Amino acid sequence: MKEWAINKSKALIKLTVNGEAYERQVEPNWTLYYLLHDKMGLTGVKMFCDRGACGSCTVIMDGRPILSCMTLAIECDGKTMETVEGIAAANHPLIDAYVKHHCMQCGYCTPGFLVTAKALLDRNPNPTEGEVKEALAGNLCRCGTYPQHLKAVLEAAENLRGE
Ligand code: FES
Ligand code: FES
Repeated sequence: MKEWAINKSKALIKLTVNGEAYERQVEPNWTLYYLLHDKMGLTGVKMFCDRGACGSCTVIMDGRPILSCMTLAIECDGKTMETVEGIAAANHPLIDAYVKHHCMQCGYCTPGFLVTAKALLDRNPNPTEGEVKEALAGNLCRCGTYPQHLKAVLEAAENLRGE
């Protein structure tokens, strides 16, 4: 079992977020969402449901999309994270495709979709329509933008492949 550097009620964790290394004191009950959004100012990480049902809080951790509202920050020692801020800073083709295809209405769910799509394209640069739908199945949009995400992700995949 991992030994934490416990300091009173807090623990020191090290993590890499969007390519930058950080050390943070975290309390045992903090979620990763709370650390990233409230404590580190990464407001692109959104909170709809706070119960693992909507996907709006998705971040990429060590290459996999995870729900930051369902993950304790203290579990993330040594992990590498990517948020929508890092994806935008890297000018990933998904960004232009999401704008071109009007993937947002209120926009609140959009970062979660984008991060999930990025994780998909990282592991599968040539997804089928069915694979895109399956990958995004855990992301909910109250405004009903679902058809637009499919178009945008497929187009971004084409651009990434240089087609
Ligand atoms: S806010 Fe995390 S899944 Fe909805
Ligand atoms: S664009 Fe409004 S919730 Fe998805």
